[in-house]
Amino acid sequence: MDDTALKERIARRLDAGRRETFRLLAPLDDDAVHRQTDPIMSPLVWDLGHVGNYEELWLLRKLGDDSFADARLDRIYDAFDNPRWTRADLPLLPRADAVEYLRDVRAAVRRRLRATPLDPHAPLLADGFVYALVEQHEAQHQETMLQALDLRPDAQAYPRATTPVGATGRRVDDTERVAVPAGPFTMGTDATTVYDNERPAHRVDLPAFALDRYPVTCRRWAAFLTDGGYDRPELWGERGWAWRGEHDVTAPQGWIRGANGGWLVRRFHALSALDPREPVEHVSWFEAEAFARWAGGRLPTEAEWEKAAAHDPATGGSRTYPWGEAPPTPARANVARTRWGPAPVGSHPAGASAYGVEQLLGDGYEWTASPFAGYPGYATFPYPEYSEVFFGGDYRVLRGASWASRACVTRNSYRNWDHPYRRQIFAGVRLAWAPDAPASGR
Ligand code: AVJ
Ligand code: FE
Repeated sequence: MDDTALKERIARRLDAGRRETFRLLAPLDDDAVHRQTDPIMSPLVWDLGHVGNYEELWLLRKLGDDSFADARLDRIYDAFDNPRWTRADLPLLPRADAVEYLRDVRAAVRRRLRATPLDPHAPLLADGFVYALVEQHEAQHQETMLQALDLRPDAQAYPRATTPVGATGRRVDDTERVAVPAGPFTMGTDATTVYDNERPAHRVDLPAFALDRYPVTCRRWAAFLTDGGYDRPELWGERGWAWRGEHDVTAPQGWIRGANGGWLVRRFHALSALDPREPVEHVSWFEAEAFARWAGGRLPTEAEWEKAAAHDPATGGSRTYPWGEAPPTPARANVARTRWGPAPVGSHPAGASAYGVEQLLGDGYEWTASPFAGYPGYATFPYPEYSEVFFGGDYRVLRGASWASRACVTRNSYRNWDHPYRRQIFAGVRLAWAPDAPASGR
């Protein structure tokens, strides 16, 4: 792609991302944007200012333009110096000022983008890398803001911005599995506009395994609950059982007992009857681990997940998306908030991987057994606080994408991570099995 076309695409994408940020906040009054309602989430106005400050740092300052540099704002919006629970006490830019800051920074970014060539020999600029970094960062914080809104305990309902698009949800057996034969595949990627933790591409040889064709459904999870899954310590790991007791966790986040023993689900303050065919969402790694033990399966490693998603046995290569190289569409994947929650299993046959595994991207992230670490040959770029400082910490990797993920952060190689006790993220699980494991109906 020539420089002009690439620059135009970059400008279009940055602007589309920004429109989405403002669209998310539009229905909220200032109090809802300023108030911190949960210590594990930031006040939304912090996310807003942080998005602008990150853009100023990477698309102006690091590219040689100091005109918007502001040490006071750097201190307020540094994610490391200010843990989430302290952010409400910072002298944050009020909403209107933050919006103005974002607009000013963006105007300068556009001027600079127009004026300077994307030097292919400058590591930040080659292929528009640093612009892709900033675009993805804003999309990630949109997801974070949605998590905060989903957790809000107060009465103000967040109005869903769109009507859910009816997914077809053909009738399927939600316990069906797909066999993945033994053999090597290419894990990770050498693509230039992805995160450092996805690079480099490297060969990984795996023994044979089986994987659920669909993410674990609410039907399967409800059966686990009915069978006393949350009350049987032998199903849980030691830490998981302690966490379950300490927080009195008895069901996924948002599940509420209805009349007649049925379940209701609360999302963005709307209550609806549990759809048994929807992938379960808002479970922690600890809960996923207990579910897997109850069912007789296990959590996949991230290598297994990626092989099932990306490997094409016909060519021996790895695909960017399960279905190939074309970007996501509503038929292929439930992403980008076209539907405000996971879609029933069976809704996306067009998104199947070469092995026939469905709904790998979209709906919810999926917990894996793997701790977060760098690949062989990993090199930090462009800064260690994105990935490297989390390697070897108390994190598990999640794969895939959620219904809230925008296309720029949706791909087979993308790696998400969180503490095993977190469940505000839009995440569920799918199980791996021994290749010859008999059907368990679970
Ligand atoms: C990759 C989603 C774990 O939200 O903590 C945002 C992304 N990094 N700002 C996070 C991120 C810096 C990160 N996750
Ligand atoms: Fe950030």
